Formats: sequence, C-alpha cells, structure tokens
Amino acid sequence: MSDIFGNVHLGYLVVETDKLSDWARFGADAIGLHVDSLSPDVARFRLDDHECRFLLQRGPAEDVTAIGWQVDDHQTFDDILGRVTSRGPPVSEGTPDECVMRGVERLWRFPGPKGAPTEIFTTPLTTASRLAMSNKAFVTGDGGMGHVAILSKDVLGMHGYYSTLFDARLSDFILERIGPMNVRIRFLRVNERHHSIAVAGVRSLSVNPIRTRVQHVNVQVAELDDMVAAYERVTAEGFTMMWSVGQHPNDRELSFYCKTPPVSSWKWVGTRSWSPPISRRPGNPRPIRASRCGGTRLSARTSSTR
Ligand SMILES: [Fe+2]
Repeated sequence: MSDIFGNVHLGYLVVETDKLSDWARFGADAIGLHVDSLSPDVARFRLDDHECRFLLQRGPAEDVTAIGWQVDDHQTFDDILGRVTSRGPPVSEGTPDECVMRGVERLWRFPGPKGAPTEIFTTPLTTASRLAMSNKAFVTGDGGMGHVAILSKDVLGMHGYYSTLFDARLSDFILERIGPMNVRIRFLRVNERHHSIAVAGVRSLSVNPIRTRVQHVNVQVAELDDMVAAYERVTAEGFTMMWSVGQHPNDRELSFYCKTPPVSSWKWVGTRSWSPPISRRPGNPRPIRASRCGGTRLSARTSSTR
C-alpha cells in the first residue's frame, strides 16, 4: 500500500445553522471573508479561488455537519476508498446538488469522527471572480484551508482513523489548559501544514465538555497586519473574544480565538514559521508544555509573513 501523506488537504467544511444572517455578518464584517449568499437558506465563504471553503446551510444542528478533504489524484482517491471499504463502513456518492453546493465536481462520503461525515473529492470548482474581502490573502494551497480541532474521549481512535485513512503523522503534542481542564492535544498533519487536525483528549472527564463536533476551526492569513485588523473588527462588531493574541509553542503561530455565532470557536492565525521534519518517516515527538494561548504577546513577532 502506497503512502499518501501529502496528497490530502482540508478542502471545505459544512455548517448547519439557523443563524445564517449572524454568520454572514461574522464572516464578512468581523473575520473579513468573502461571503456569497446563494439563497435565504444557503451562504458560502471563500478564502481563495475555490468556490466554497465554508458551506452554511439552514438547519437546527448548529454544528459542523461534514468535513471535506481534497485528494490530489485518482490513485490516492481509490486508495482511500479501498481503505474504508475494506473495514466495512458504507461509502456513498454525493448527489449533484450536494456537489454544486460544496463547489466540487463529485464527492464520496463515509462515516467520520463524532458523527461528522468525511467527504473526499479530487476536483474543486474554482472561480476567477475577485475576492471581496478585508484580508489580502489566506494561506491555503498544498496546506489546505486550515485545520480543525476536536475534543475526544478516544484520542487514539481518532489518531488511528486519520492515520489509517490519510497516513496522517503526529507532528507533536502539547499540554494546555482549556477552561477548567488540563488537556493533552495531539497535532496531526497530512501534508506540509503543521497540523490539519488537532485532537484534545478528554478521556478523564465523565462527559465531553464541548457540545459540538468541532471545538474550533482555523484559517490562516498571509500577513500579520490582517490578523491584527481582524482582531479589532471582531471586537468592534461585538463578537466574543475567547483568547486574545498569543502564540502556541509548537507551530509558533500567532493567533486569537473568538466565538462564532452559535457553533464553536474560530482561531485566527497570522503567521507561520513551522517547517516539517526532513525525514519522511514519523518522528518521535516529545511533549511540549504550552504557555497557554493568550496574553498580549503580539509584539514578539511583527514581521513574519509568508
Ligand atoms: Fe488550532
């Protein structure tokens, strides 16, 4: 079986919400994304030339309802489907309407962690129309659109899921305080981005403290100035800031966290300095104790942009 590491990229997220107008205001006026309102019940966010990076559909879930992954080629695509079907879960093809909404030619779907289906596709629909947004550019490309962070009582199961499917590798892990909890967070990468999935273990708790499937979503701007401006807009627009600007000790990204309208949190990243190990083989990372994301350490890095 071939190693498909590097051939998979976070492509889009599907969110179901009854607060579409709040989401549109959050996306356009606070975060500064390109927003396309397709109907009273459907909106999409763009970050780049992909027609859709976030699909927002009206509904009661107030949660992420699918995670879409772009696959580089048909060989990789067949490999992934083979890995799924050999273990028994059902695989189904997306309908033409679902594909149009997500901005892809075709997609296949199978069960994913915490009940959010995994969807894979090879060909995104792109557009040459100008991005109408407050930020100059986002870091996407081979690193995908960003990352998702998930709380789980079954961290090893989650790690195994993405290793089995996408040959995900463990970049490192940190110990961090989230609210009243000390949690250990694994950072899994499937391509050049330091991580596309972060999994925080909450096994010791009787109940998972986060209702939603995804604890936070990350997108990364190319220039630090855009992160600062977004931070100010989020505050000025009255959205809740969860953590002020701070820096994780492992990927060295500067970021802030704010609350999306009703769903979860949004992590905003302005810089990136992490480089993948030279070795193509999984390493043996050691734990890094986090200094807690927060505080006001923006002045620590003021010039690094991609
Ligand atoms: Fe994150």
